[in-house]
Amino acid sequence: MGYRETYDRWKDDPEAYWLEQAKAIDWDLAPKKALFDRGDDIYEWFADARVNTCYNAVDRHVEQGNGKRVAVIYDSPITGKKSTLTYSELQAQVAALAGALKAQGVEKGDRVVIYMPMVPEALQAMLACARIGAIHSVVFGGFASSELAVRIDDCKPKAIIAASCGLEPGRVVEYKPLLDGAIEQAEHKPEVCIIFQRGQCPCELIRGRDIDWYAAQDGVRPAPCEPVEGNHPAYILYTSGTTGAPKGVVRPTAGHLVALNWTMKNIYNVEPGEVFWAASDVGWVVGHSYICYAPLIAGNTTVVFEGKPVGTPDAGTFWRVIEEHNVASFFTAPTAIRAVKREDPDGEEIKKYDLSSLRALYLAGERADPDTVEWAQDKLGKPVYDHWWQTETGYTIVGNPAGLEALPVKVGSPSVPMPGYDVQILDESGQPQPPGELGAIAIKLPLPPGTLPGLWNAEERFRKSYLTTFPGYYETGDAGMIDEDGYVWIMARTDDVINVAGHRLSTGAMEEALAGHPDVAECAVVGVSDALKGQMPVGFLCLTKGVDRPEAEIVEECVTRVRDQIGPVAAFKQAVVVDRLPKTRSGKILRATMVKIADGEDFKPPATIDDPAILDEIHDALARIGYPKG
Ligand code: COA
Ligand code: AMP
Repeated sequence: MGYRETYDRWKDDPEAYWLEQAKAIDWDLAPKKALFDRGDDIYEWFADARVNTCYNAVDRHVEQGNGKRVAVIYDSPITGKKSTLTYSELQAQVAALAGALKAQGVEKGDRVVIYMPMVPEALQAMLACARIGAIHSVVFGGFASSELAVRIDDCKPKAIIAASCGLEPGRVVEYKPLLDGAIEQAEHKPEVCIIFQRGQCPCELIRGRDIDWYAAQDGVRPAPCEPVEGNHPAYILYTSGTTGAPKGVVRPTAGHLVALNWTMKNIYNVEPGEVFWAASDVGWVVGHSYICYAPLIAGNTTVVFEGKPVGTPDAGTFWRVIEEHNVASFFTAPTAIRAVKREDPDGEEIKKYDLSSLRALYLAGERADPDTVEWAQDKLGKPVYDHWWQTETGYTIVGNPAGLEALPVKVGSPSVPMPGYDVQILDESGQPQPPGELGAIAIKLPLPPGTLPGLWNAEERFRKSYLTTFPGYYETGDAGMIDEDGYVWIMARTDDVINVAGHRLSTGAMEEALAGHPDVAECAVVGVSDALKGQMPVGFLCLTKGVDRPEAEIVEECVTRVRDQIGPVAAFKQAVVVDRLPKTRSGKILRATMVKIADGEDFKPPATIDDPAILDEIHDALARIGYPKG
């Protein structure tokens, strides 16, 4: 059955469609009903079922006789280490760690924060939580202590599982001081921290609170899989919103299993036993869905890659991994391909490797610019599929369902809505727009299985962020259009979220950090275009009256502040001092206009601007730091 027929089948009877897909999951109690309408635009899927995620991702493959199949390949060009774990080995390891969590008093529904780099133990920790129904919340290693502290205070973990360090090229990132700092800052204190010591940087354990990874597992009874209700939260993953406080996206257990399993064949076109590789990080949604859960649920082999697209050791790393491990389907962010292209424009590294195992390259996480897509298509000689999704959905909203039917690629568009998603373009009053018209991208409710049923402990924020602007729809926060052929084009965010090297960041959070500087009276952060990272943050600082310290000194302190408070991942390196910020007469900062000036684009000042002369000042300030580029 092709794409159109499948999409129509879903649309004719969504519940029957998803109940059919649910048959691929091993249930303790199979769902009798697919959708539960909880009223007021809140929906849940498969709430009457009972199931265990870890059982479906690990144990069932062993029971089906595939215990010797490789579940996880670890390839770390940073340490020079490579290893594999079979499904049987993974099962034993996960059961032991789950037993350790139990022995430490962690029960179903308790939260566990995971702060780990790209090592197989990170997957082991996630699956161990899933095994006993504990709700994990993985925090990306590039965030600073205060971001970790905010997450600890929001989800109140009973336990934290952390590694002693992460490894960045040329730099050991000591996690333990960051962890200790976060716990000190947070009001909520975890009862126990299980610490995975890495040889590169062992750390001191705090007596009475910390316990060594292996010591914690010593002599404990391996824990069995505990079935949970279909709507039990599998995990919480924090993502950036408009304000500084991150949003805790909740992932429901049963829908997550059904939907992710569906994607492995229909989108990524892999069969059980084949190698699937997502070069991302477990701290992001791509890592949750496509390094850990989906490939394992579908019985694939997943690759845990601890390295960078370039510099570990060169721009051929991706192609080496694909050849060496027979990767059939490869997923990364456009920025990673841009980094490779910049170092190896002629694709000389690609020629050195046998990429015959590879069927296609999948890109997501940010806009896939046509230059990058075309370069990859040309140099790899394989289809390149852009696909659009969000932390909130956990998997593709709009993509090219290559396993169902490979549709013609239109470079610049991620293609078409997947079954489950009724994607519409709305104008400001919520009216659906005809093909070719720009507008806000919204999805008609209910969202499909696996997508967020809410935000952790923040129902009002959930409604305000996603449900109230367009009644009956989920507001994606992206703007774009749908063309005559039904292809969706993603143009821009409608909020203050920016995307730096495929990482979703809040300019609001950066502004909060800057505003805390004693000499800063007012500030704004915008995302300007960047040839490598897609966008880069630039700060505008208005100083407090009477401050007469050198501006460069204040700028440097501000850069350090953002790095210390949000983390290196914010990549906040540039700020300028200005007298005033451009605003509308009602006081709204004209961020989009500032971006246009920085990008050297033509623009018309909005009619509501308070004082157009300020735009010249912004132009001059940006010129001082080299904008517009080129
Ligand atoms: N732990 C600690 N620090 C981290 C980190 C981690 N897990 N990940 C990144 N950082 C740090 C980096 O060391 C860097 O620090 P620096 O300012 O001291 O140099 C900073 O955060 C910015 O990192 P990054 O965005 O990775 O930029 P880069 O210049 O080091 O590398 C790319 C550029 C394009 C190679 C890199 O961004 C990349 O691989 N991107 C792909 C992103 C991706 O997979 N996204 C997932 C969505 S699908
Ligand atoms: P995240 O939640 O971190 O995955 O970020 C989701 C956001 O990244 C989306 O709302 C988009 O703004 C952007 N994004 C993700 N994938 C794409 C894509 N394929 N094309 C354009 N933007 C994308």
